Amino acid sequence: MAIPLKRFTLRKISGSSVSSAKPKILITGVPGTGKTTVARLLSEKMDAALLDINKLVNVLKLYSSVDETDGAKVVRLKELQDELASAIKAEKRSIIVEGHLGCEMKLPVSRVIVLRCEPKILRARMVSRNYPPAKVSANALSEALDYCTVWSEKNYGKKKVWELDTTEKSAKQVADEIEKILSGKTKKKGKSISFPDALMREAITGEKIRKIF
Ligand SMILES: Nc1ncnc2c1ncn2[C@@H]1O[C@H](COP(=O)(O)OP(=O)(O)OP(=O)(O)O)[C@@H](O)[C@H]1O
Ligand SMILES: [Mg+2]
Repeated sequence: MAIPLKRFTLRKISGSSVSSAKPKILITGVPGTGKTTVARLLSEKMDAALLDINKLVNVLKLYSSVDETDGAKVVRLKELQDELASAIKAEKRSIIVEGHLGCEMKLPVSRVIVLRCEPKILRARMVSRNYPPAKVSANALSEALDYCTVWSEKNYGKKKVWELDTTEKSAKQVADEIEKILSGKTKKKGKSISFPDALMREAITGEKIRKIF
């Protein structure tokens, strides 16, 4: 059974207080797509509470083990889902929940935004953040396979899910686009995002592709 997330815990994680009922959104996407950066900008613009799923996992220790080689946590997803659902329902303001694990569960949100990034650029972002090489490759592969879109659509239904390509946009541009989607100014979704196969090998392994004649 979920232990209801106390208000002080949500404030500690989100740095926010509480008022009237508003949109509840999930920003998800493969690590490095810019969720945290964009969610922070958007929460300021919208005066929304902000809930970082990774922080919640750490604060409540919702993991059963930690991989010694890369520090990856085996998260107890069902417990995490219950904690998040309680926190989202309790929040009276708009709330932005962000984290890649959000696509793997069902949360009481009205909209899901999946941030996408061309895998080669994603690789560069992760390398510059000193992610371990195995994690860089795994995440580039996940992005190449549309991992977060596939799971988001399965868990939340296609109608709620909007993809946004961040590859050539600043975090501020991405936050502005999300705001337009939420306000209804952007009415139509773009085409489904997929990245050309030719670049996948290079994106996943980091090796330059040589043409073989
Ligand atoms: N739109 C963008 N364009 C270029 N760089 C960006 C953009 N958004 C974020 N970044 C950079 O990419 C890196 C990853 O950003 P961020 O930490 O927000 O990603 P994340 O999706 O939250 O990753 P994680 O899942 O690991 O928490 C950071 O160095 C950030 O400055
Ligand atoms: Mg983040």
